[in-house]
Amino acid sequence: MSVAVENSKVNECSDEWSFAGHRSIDSYTHGYHRYPAKFIPQIVSKLIETYATEDCLIVDPFAGCGTTLVEAKSHGYRSIGFDVNPVAEMITKSKITTIAPGSHQNLLEIIQEWFSNYNEEEKYYISDHPRLNYWFCPEQKNKIGYLKKCIEEVDNKELETFLKVGLSNILKTSSRWLQDSTKPQIDPKKQIKDPFNLFEYQIKKMWKKNMEFHSYLSKKNRLDIQSEIHLRDARDTGLENDSVDLVITSPPYATSYEYADIHQLSGYVFNFFSDLREFRKKFIGTFYSEKIEAEINCLLASDTVSQLAVKNKKIAKEIENYFISMQQVIQEIHRILKPGATCCMVVGDSKLREVTIPTSDILISLMREESFYLEKRITRNISLKQIPTTRHPISGRFTSPSELNSVKVYPKEHILIFKKR
Ligand SMILES: C[S@@+](CC[C@H](N)C(=O)[O-])C[C@H]1O[C@@H](n2cnc3c(N)ncnc32)[C@H](O)[C@@H]1O
Repeated sequence: MSVAVENSKVNECSDEWSFAGHRSIDSYTHGYHRYPAKFIPQIVSKLIETYATEDCLIVDPFAGCGTTLVEAKSHGYRSIGFDVNPVAEMITKSKITTIAPGSHQNLLEIIQEWFSNYNEEEKYYISDHPRLNYWFCPEQKNKIGYLKKCIEEVDNKELETFLKVGLSNILKTSSRWLQDSTKPQIDPKKQIKDPFNLFEYQIKKMWKKNMEFHSYLSKKNRLDIQSEIHLRDARDTGLENDSVDLVITSPPYATSYEYADIHQLSGYVFNFFSDLREFRKKFIGTFYSEKIEAEINCLLASDTVSQLAVKNKKIAKEIENYFISMQQVIQEIHRILKPGATCCMVVGDSKLREVTIPTSDILISLMREESFYLEKRITRNISLKQIPTTRHPISGRFTSPSELNSVKVYPKEHILIFKKR
């Protein structure tokens, strides 16, 4: 019997969760930086309003660009996030640490001064990474090196991170990277924009949002609420047993985004990693994840892997690896949650090589194995979340809808609400 049928009494398919016409997805500091598959804040907000208890500690083991943490702080709750991606860590840090408006009133003047002191005859160093010359034309590369140098000379850590996030978000537009593509791909005909213009626009936008969020938190007396992001694996958070009240998370999808590849420009510019191959292995849900030898405690997962193995053994192994890794994450979530506490997961099912990957049903089974029970399953139509909805039929990677034979994925997503027994 499928998990979906068995649980029909807890299923809910409601427009209430589609959030059409609700507040912008760029409210507060949410819009600082692009990030693939980020939550829409409205989901997190509604989950917090429904499941947070007094003086609650909220944890997101796959924090990404920090949507859960920003929403937790805006609602007045303590939160801790984890991610293996240093770009995610940098973005989140900046989004949860607002800067007091009075402290840098002349920020835009400072930036203007940087621009006027730029000497195009001088060479500004970024790093020795050979891929920098592949992605950037000399003029833009030099200006980015200059901005990086100026930012590193700022003697305030919070402001430095804020400006780095701004620079990070303009790297793709300043490079030969095919615009709006999540695949690392050059656009030979691209009209590349001026990094200084892009940076100025970006910082103005971010500063306005920083001020709005700062003033909101200040009015509510929430500026000093604990909010932490750690560069750490979701399978080993280091938190104490039975210490967390609420988990709100969206795990990586099975073999979809290559976060390491997508964020490589920021990685090279800020020296987050030198070896892309090694870096990729840390991520769950990618083709390059570290292979783990373990059993999956779920018949549905084993069946899915067997169906895939008939089509392609390598992809089958990736999917098996994904579910084994998720099993380990679930064990960690169980360890850190207090008895009776809630875990909310937002997940999408997908299709690879004509085989449906029922990720939501498999995660429900794995959660049950770990003594969670499913309280509710809400299925929502994706209306605002900006994720590609088509995959390449062979590789399974995200692709443009115009690509021949591309396959539609994640038209819906599931919000799964579990309780720890
Ligand atoms: C779907 S995204 C989460 C997006 C997030 N909800 C947001 O709003 O930005 C999944 C995240 O899992 C992270 N990730 C992948 N493997 C991980 C691991 N082993 N431990 C912690 N985070 C990991 C990725 O870097 C990515 O940021």
